[in-house]
Amino acid sequence: MSVNALYTDLSGYYDLMCVDIDYHAQSNAIHRLHQMFGNGGKQHLELACGTGPHVRHFLDAGFTSSGLDINQPMLDIAAQRCPEAHFSLQDMCSFEASEPLDLITCFLYSIHYNDGLEKLSACIASAHRALNEGGVFYFNVVDKQRIDNELFVRHTAKQADAAFTFRSGWHYSGQGARQSLRLSIEKTEAGATQVWNHEHPMVAVSFSELMALLEPTFEVHVFEHDYQTITPWDNVSGNAIFVCVKREGPRLAFIVRAQLELNAHQEIAQHLVFTLTVVLMARLAEKRAELMVA
Ligand SMILES: C[S@@+](CC[C@H](N)C(=O)[O-])C[C@H]1O[C@@H](n2cnc3c(N)ncnc32)[C@H](O)[C@@H]1O
Repeated sequence: MSVNALYTDLSGYYDLMCVDIDYHAQSNAIHRLHQMFGNGGKQHLELACGTGPHVRHFLDAGFTSSGLDINQPMLDIAAQRCPEAHFSLQDMCSFEASEPLDLITCFLYSIHYNDGLEKLSACIASAHRALNEGGVFYFNVVDKQRIDNELFVRHTAKQADAAFTFRSGWHYSGQGARQSLRLSIEKTEAGATQVWNHEHPMVAVSFSELMALLEPTFEVHVFEHDYQTITPWDNVSGNAIFVCVKREGPRLAFIVRAQLELNAHQEIAQHLVFTLTVVLMARLAEKRAELMVA
């Protein structure tokens, strides 16, 4: 089943499945990070916005907020929740924004829906293009090297006469750039239980690989995955919040120039090592010849 078909099926249950998520705390934390690192602007876009709960919070906090998602039924619910926002049906790996943006957010690990490293890079490039100078791209992410395949999040909910149990967890084989999200939904009604299992592929990336993709064009700040306290990442946790500030043109040019100079220095150093090796070998040959004569 494709991701799109999955969310078409899930759209009616999605908010029930996420009832324990503290959308207010998440949006608030990112709003504070934007105040600390951003450019003060209020043009916001949410990638993979789903049914729009974060867009609602950003609108209420005074942003001009918009959302994009690949699934129309999810967007239809988002539009009911946020009638004043603009929503568009787009793939986040190659999106266009109608206005230059100051804040782009992507919550609930949805950045992993960029299926493969190429699409992830294209999404980062699209975000960079869409942002104003000093604008911020925020997302949360899991490091493939630190995934615990045994770990599951479980949560129960009731709707009318039906009881639901939702389970979700990551699975990574330990190799390559693919991990999967395993979902299981159990619905019990009038004594009968239906079980629905699904697994879909997502991009797997380590934090160091991600840094290498982001750092040429963004200044990157990494925080612990805790929306209550803003704490720098401890270099150990497998989940983190990435706050990426669009580098300004002159600073980007400076970094590229510095890299070129570094490369030039490396070439000079290599040349010196080569010359010294040649001189040393010539000396050794002379010594050997002297010893043989003696
Ligand atoms: C787990 S939901 C998250 C929704 C929302 N961000 C939240 O926090 O509740 C993932 C969303 O990503 C959307 N999605 C999946 N692949 C996408 C893509 N390539 N581009 C845009 N949206 C995508 C799905 O349709 C779904 O609405």
